[in-house]
Amino acid sequence: MRKIAFVTQKGGAGKSTLASSVAVAARQAGERVFIIDLDPLQTLVNWSRARGVADIAVEHVPPAKLSKALAALAAKGVTLAIIDAPGQEGDYFSAAVRAADLCVIPARPNAFDLWASEITRMRVKEKGKDYAFLLNQCPPAQQSARVELGAKALQAMGGLLAPLVSSRVDYQEAARLGRGVGEYNPDGVAAEEMRELWASIKRRLKKPASAAKTPSAKPTKAVRNAA
Ligand SMILES: Nc1ncnc2c1ncn2[C@@H]1O[C@H](COP(=O)(O)OP(=O)(O)O)[C@@H](O)[C@H]1O
Ligand SMILES: [Mg+2]
Repeated sequence: MRKIAFVTQKGGAGKSTLASSVAVAARQAGERVFIIDLDPLQTLVNWSRARGVADIAVEHVPPAKLSKALAALAAKGVTLAIIDAPGQEGDYFSAAVRAADLCVIPARPNAFDLWASEITRMRVKEKGKDYAFLLNQCPPAQQSARVELGAKALQAMGGLLAPLVSSRVDYQEAARLGRGVGEYNPDGVAAEEMRELWASIKRRLKKPASAAKTPSAKPTKAVRNAA
């Protein structure tokens, strides 16, 4: 069983939105998916209630019980556990990072999110975990200098997952209905973005940790430039 955690110190970057739509994309690609909602706000527990079907189970688990819960899921044949973490440091964040094979760190293309990404990256690195960034809520045209600089900064800090995810109403409507964008509008661009994103995450999970780890890039400078 593979375990990915959506983490960042910043609320509103899109952790829960992306965790739910990636869960659906992975489910549609044949994975047996379980979502662990570590956020005390229980956003994805509510998403699951709106969903009304149990093909992707969602459970709120306190941090102290996370590793036991994951072992039980693996024994039950779950192939992908997706952990949605709250947007601040603390036990919940630490438990999510420790449990994950890969930490996905979403950020919007703005200075505050990029600064928060750098701090999150440091915390994840301290725990010796692999991570990749994700740029979310980009303007759909995507050629803006702000997006380009944001993408460059995140790339320099340790790798950016493809694709750049745009700001689209489909994400909000799908979430409201307890769906992923791949169900809400399967032929839409957002659905295609999430299929691509799942493919990128899957490829990244296959890389040996040493190859996936990056470099000696100077994050602070890259982030300052982007900001
Ligand atoms: N790609 C996107 N396009 C449009 N709205 C988005 C997108 N990603 C997130 N949002 C919206 O941004 C807000 C914050 O997203 P959320 O997933 O709750 O963030 P987090 O879990 O990181 O706090 C929500 O209202 C959500 O609908
Ligand atoms: Mg959330």
